[in-house]
Amino acid sequence: MTTTMSFLRRTQPLRRVAFSPSLAQRVSRSHPNVRRFTTEPPPPPPPPPKSNTALYAGIGAAAVGGLALYFFTDFGKEADTAAKSAVQTTKSATGFVPGKEDYQKVYNRIAEIIDDAGDYDDGSYGPVVLRLAWHSSGTYDKDTKTGGSNYATMRFEPESNHGANAGLNVARNLMEKVKAEFPWISYGDLWTLAGVCAIQEMAGPKIPWRPGRIDGFAAQATPDGRLPDAKLGADHLRTIFYRMGFNDREIVALSGAHALGRCHRDRSGFDGPWTFSPTTVTNDFYKLLLEEKWIWRKWDGPKQLQDKTTQSLMMLPTDYVLTQDKSFKKWTKAYADDQELWFKDFSDVVSRLFELGVPTQQFVTSEPWIMKNVDEQKK
Ligand code: HEM
Repeated sequence: MTTTMSFLRRTQPLRRVAFSPSLAQRVSRSHPNVRRFTTEPPPPPPPPPKSNTALYAGIGAAAVGGLALYFFTDFGKEADTAAKSAVQTTKSATGFVPGKEDYQKVYNRIAEIIDDAGDYDDGSYGPVVLRLAWHSSGTYDKDTKTGGSNYATMRFEPESNHGANAGLNVARNLMEKVKAEFPWISYGDLWTLAGVCAIQEMAGPKIPWRPGRIDGFAAQATPDGRLPDAKLGADHLRTIFYRMGFNDREIVALSGAHALGRCHRDRSGFDGPWTFSPTTVTNDFYKLLLEEKWIWRKWDGPKQLQDKTTQSLMMLPTDYVLTQDKSFKKWTKAYADDQELWFKDFSDVVSRLFELGVPTQQFVTSEPWIMKNVDEQKK
């Protein structure tokens, strides 16, 4: 038994509570021939914009593109979504241009919701909300410049039902509460800001972030298979993450997010947490990978590893490969030895992950913002 493990087990007792089906996805099935939305369709469009600030110029250009898509292609069924882009285009015309303090209010509301998790999992919605932000961004393909966080296409079928996204309806539904209170924010901005909030509120590093994403169309939804398959190995990880534009060091840095949360049998089929502190951002994922002996679990579920000592932790095949592949192992060791180095790399790579697929001119500022933690604002 390592000191890390015994210390963590003493200080971080785990609670295990079954997934509540009451948060089931809101998908209307009454009109089989019409594209369905996992979120409410938007209101009708207001009149055209007058302002030409950088933000709204960018958003306007994208919305015009969207409207062109609407008029010149067969996207008649997307009328409501086109209208949504138009609503954003005209925000400045209504006189409300959200500033950093408005986004900070959204951040603070997300922090409350994440924290108010009752008996859900380990007492926090932080991990599942972070997974939503990552899955909405990690669909990016640098060659075709499709996917990524810009259009929040996971609101639409079939993307919402892709196997990799199982269970994320929980996080999307939570975010609907925030959207209802701050209707001016786009889903892409909301989901990525929630990912930032989750990391920062669970004691992780600051994640530079800036707004500017717009809501897109169901037609922009990405095909299945763009997110990693946990059953596979190093080649697969490289295929998936190189496609997003990341390298080996960044693949390892991103994987450390599995310090947080757990696998659910009724979502991915895998089962259990990676660390003894699944609601605190630490480099324990790397430490445990290297310090523990991992054995294949004998069970009727998909192939996963368990720690020999307590048999209460798990690793996915794609996690374990970070100790088996030479180039990955170098960084696993570096991050296990130095949490500060990992925090720095994680902050940088997550910030870029959340911006994948967003044209630079859409962002409201060239320098990303550092949002304040809830605790910092109490001082
Ligand atoms: C390296 C490839 C990756 C694979 C194969 C993978 C796979 C998975 C799987 C199978 C689950 C369990 C889902 C469930 O049953 O609820 C999961 C959960 C999670 N993943 Fe990953 N993931 C990867 C990378 C990432 C990245 C890059 C991040 C964030 C930056 C991330 C964040 C999370 C979090 C926070 C959870 C816990 C969710 C919860 O507790 O509900 N993962 N991942």
